[in-house]
Amino acid sequence: MRRKVIAGNWKMNMLPNEAIEYLQAFEPMVKNAEAEVILCVPYTDLFYCIMNAQGTNIKIGAQNMHYSETGAYTGEVSPKMLKVVGVEYVIIGHSERRAYYGETDEIVNKKVKAAFEYELKPIVCVGESLEQREAGKTEEIITSQTRLALEGLTPEQVKATIIAYEPIWAIGTGKTATSEDANNSIKSIRAEIAKIYGSEVAEEVIIQYGGSVKSSNAKELFETSDIDGGLVGGASLKPDEFSKIVNYNK
Ligand code: 13P
Repeated sequence: MRRKVIAGNWKMNMLPNEAIEYLQAFEPMVKNAEAEVILCVPYTDLFYCIMNAQGTNIKIGAQNMHYSETGAYTGEVSPKMLKVVGVEYVIIGHSERRAYYGETDEIVNKKVKAAFEYELKPIVCVGESLEQREAGKTEEIITSQTRLALEGLTPEQVKATIIAYEPIWAIGTGKTATSEDANNSIKSIRAEIAKIYGSEVAEEVIIQYGGSVKSSNAKELFETSDIDGGLVGGASLKPDEFSKIVNYNK
């Protein structure tokens, strides 16, 4: 049985004092959760969140990183920098980064490899746009993004990768994919992984759904056969609402 992993993606929200207050409120709400709980926070909150989450079941992740260890890349943050401050997870290839910052499948693949090199656990985002969906290309897009992101990884690394299926049209729009639709897309991602790495590997990979997840739809989504949790944007900004998503099965 795969575990459930539920991650919040705060995106560009929350000042350090807000992050600390959030963690103080959130920690008691999720301390008995069965799912693994992750908060992916802005760089400027990382240190405060890592200090305040010590000794709790809340894990801290970043939302992006460069693939090089050091160098003349003004404004960038390296995998080693994240590792040294105590970051455990890193989101890679979010659709917002692909769309606004030109992240290609090749860059995503380099970042995934760099994450493993520095013992960070990648959460790799894939997902189709509305236009691609309407053209009947969903499966083609998400399987190719998955294949290219994982290229060159060992089977052990593939097993340790978290994939987040986030249909772009469902992000921040209030439109959620139906649980059946999301589950089917996730099945096709798993089948693609099985084709390359075998079904034993594919059965172990955690594949989340993201896109307008909230406390009112989390249970239905997470209780399907292949959705192993969620990557939650807007609804992760309020401790009360996010704790209900984390505790969806209670
Ligand atoms: P929303 O939950 O706000 O739709 O965002 C989803 C997302 O992009 C998480 O990475």
